[in-house]
Amino acid sequence: MAIPGIEMNTGRSIPAISFGTGTSFFNRPDDVASNINDAYKAGFRCFDTATIYGTEIGLGKGLKELNLDRKDLFITSKTPDWAWDKDSIVESVRESLAKLQLDYLDLVLIHTPAPRYDMLRRLGLKTEEEIKNLPDCSNQEVMNGARLQAWLGLQVCVQKGLVRDIGVSNYTVTHLKNLLKHEEVTIVPAVNQVEYNPYMVDTPLYEYCKENKILIQAFAPLGNGKTLMEDEVMKRVAQKYNKTPAQVALRWAWQLGIPTVNKTEKTARMKENLDYFDFSLTNQEMEEITSLNKNERRFGDPARFP
Ligand SMILES: NC(=O)c1ccc[n+]([C@@H]2O[C@H](COP(=O)([O-])OP(=O)(O)OC[C@H]3O[C@@H](n4cnc5c(N)ncnc54)[C@H](OP(=O)(O)O)[C@@H]3O)[C@@H](O)[C@H]2O)c1
Repeated sequence: MAIPGIEMNTGRSIPAISFGTGTSFFNRPDDVASNINDAYKAGFRCFDTATIYGTEIGLGKGLKELNLDRKDLFITSKTPDWAWDKDSIVESVRESLAKLQLDYLDLVLIHTPAPRYDMLRRLGLKTEEEIKNLPDCSNQEVMNGARLQAWLGLQVCVQKGLVRDIGVSNYTVTHLKNLLKHEEVTIVPAVNQVEYNPYMVDTPLYEYCKENKILIQAFAPLGNGKTLMEDEVMKRVAQKYNKTPAQVALRWAWQLGIPTVNKTEKTARMKENLDYFDFSLTNQEMEEITSLNKNERRFGDPARFP
């Protein structure tokens, strides 16, 4: 079955579910290459990567081996935490394309509203000297300027045909408002990819994005496969429809108009995670699942960046 799409503000559509090559795939390009084959066979056509995942090369290799028609795929990548001016953004997108062996990307996101020094250190991606030269992640004025320049860089990438659609990730309402007020911003982000699932519901962000025609895309839609999958309400609703808690979480997002980025290394789960388009949650079930919210994050709170 073809995966349905959700329309973005450019009129193009993004598949309802993407296959994520982050989290446990970090820096395992060869494993990504082999998993892509299984994910494609299961039905995934949309693949999500990022420079800092270290999986662009593996995804490119996996896709090359499959020898597919480019137009049947939707490929998303994200800018590295060290690119904060126009030129370095354009350069980073060109580097992503080279690693992916592609001549355009469907979607590129600014990965984070400010450089995550801790992550750069942990992954050994930058030296202390290089980190010192990055914009100050705790200074709102500095970061507003850096976020604007990075966005203008992505707009250049669109003009150059390197990217079809552009967006952001981990942006709060404040980050979005501060970006959209600039008259140089001629393209409204198509997508804001954030942590979103029944345990991490952010209604004010959802409403703001809806009003401004920015599509929320959920990463960790299964709550990173942790306690949400054991929730009694999720299990009860799943049993009613002869589905699994994972399929209920994905269906809940779909009924909210939220595309998701899901990840699994298990072939059976790849099929399971695409099989949620044949049942409907009632309004009451949608509300009950939304009310499970605990503001429980498995990833960093983007509001820590001013
Ligand atoms: N923009 C950002 O800052 C950002 C941050 C985090 C993630 N992401 C993107 O989002 C992707 C997904 O994030 P995530 O890994 O947290 O997503 P997720 O889909 O919520 O959780 C994946 C976890 O759930 C397990 N799982 C998968 N299918 C399952 C099922 N049907 N039943 C029970 N457990 C299941 C997986 O284990 P197995 O592999 O063992 O099946 C894995 O441990 C990443 O790979 C990345 O591409 C983006």
